[in-house]
Amino acid sequence: MLYRELGSTSEKVSILGFGAMRLPVLDGQYDKIDFERTKELLHHAVDCGVNYVDTAHPYHNGESEKVLGELLKDGYREKVHLATKLPSWKIQKREDMDFYLEEQMERLQTDHIDFYLLHSLKKDYWENLKSLGVLEFLDHAVADGRIKYTGFSFHDEIDLFFEIVDSYKWDVCQVQYNIADENYQAGIDGIRYASSQGIGVIVMEPLRGGSLVNGIPSEVQELWNEAPVKRSPAEWALRFLWDKNEINTVLSGMNTVEQLEENLKIAEAGVPESLTQDERDIIREVRRVYHQRMKVLCTECGYCMPCPEGVNIPGNFKHFNSAHIYNDVENARMNYYGLLNEKERASNCTQCGECEWTCPQMIDIKGTLKEVSKTLEK
Ligand SMILES: NC(=O)c1ccc[n+]([C@@H]2O[C@H](COP(=O)([O-])OP(=O)(O)OC[C@H]3O[C@@H](n4cnc5c(N)ncnc54)[C@H](OP(=O)(O)O)[C@@H]3O)[C@@H](O)[C@H]2O)c1
Repeated sequence: MLYRELGSTSEKVSILGFGAMRLPVLDGQYDKIDFERTKELLHHAVDCGVNYVDTAHPYHNGESEKVLGELLKDGYREKVHLATKLPSWKIQKREDMDFYLEEQMERLQTDHIDFYLLHSLKKDYWENLKSLGVLEFLDHAVADGRIKYTGFSFHDEIDLFFEIVDSYKWDVCQVQYNIADENYQAGIDGIRYASSQGIGVIVMEPLRGGSLVNGIPSEVQELWNEAPVKRSPAEWALRFLWDKNEINTVLSGMNTVEQLEENLKIAEAGVPESLTQDERDIIREVRRVYHQRMKVLCTECGYCMPCPEGVNIPGNFKHFNSAHIYNDVENARMNYYGLLNEKERASNCTQCGECEWTCPQMIDIKGTLKEVSKTLEK
């Protein structure tokens, strides 16, 4: 395993981090984590040198933190940097911050959190947290040892990113960045700026939640096939990230041992500045093709769920995107009717809008569901 220094923290983190948002589950139920498979994955990852583990209060409806707490017993806790996040959207008063931090330490069965991030910062959460004294809370929690390092994860426009970076002595930031999203949200300019300020850069959703490796458009696959070096799409996507010196670790949401093994192998070559100019050009061309084809920039993070009416929002967007990516409405419609039950389909949306304020991608969910219904429903 290769390691990089995380900003100015002087901690050496594995370039492959373990994301605990998409753990293996039982019966397809998000809050029923498959304990044994997760144990196998996490312990194998740590045994192979992965030393950064990322979770958050809402992952698997709270079960991710609890399961990690169990699985990091017996010596594993000491081998990893454990990161979790303050659920920004739940904070209504200063005391809530201490309440959640205490609850999270209890769930994770630890007396301190190594990296505590303000989760999913967007303008309104940031303004609210600031006004409630979050920076003073962070100072206190560091001073009394409950938190070792501070940070934030981010899902808004770049100007806000700069503002937040300049507002506090952050240790790390967590941003969405991948071959398709170079100038999206914080983007490469945000990454370079944070790094220049000594802030460690952690990348999330490196495979766009799996959409850069599953159901690849034929034009993209052709580009990969024509490349002089043969690499899997996951390898191209991860090598693209590790090619950048400013990125310190990449969180992957692996949910099988095969995926873990592949990513561990790819990480062996994850050296900064190791891609040739020709290889970078191929990636640029792939990005261009994706941008032309993708209709909704949904990463299936599931923050919009559950919908009070039972609409499967990410599922709807997946079929809608497929219709555009493959230019095949009939096939997408077949899958839409075959894979989503009546309640889950777009036409069941009542336009209440509860989903929209939690979407990190700021998708116009109500409007897009109307379009989905128009395109895919007969
Ligand atoms: N702070 C935030 O706001 C925020 C938001 C999102 C994520 N995160 C963090 O970032 C982590 C990573 O994000 P993510 O889960 O979206 O990661 P991701 O790596 O972009 O997507 C994970 C999916 O990629 C596929 N995959 C991974 N390795 C593969 C391989 N070698 N070959 C083929 N497919 C592979 C799997 O898809 P299949 O399941 O379809 O096989 C997996 O479910 C999360 O776990 C979480 O810790 C944070």
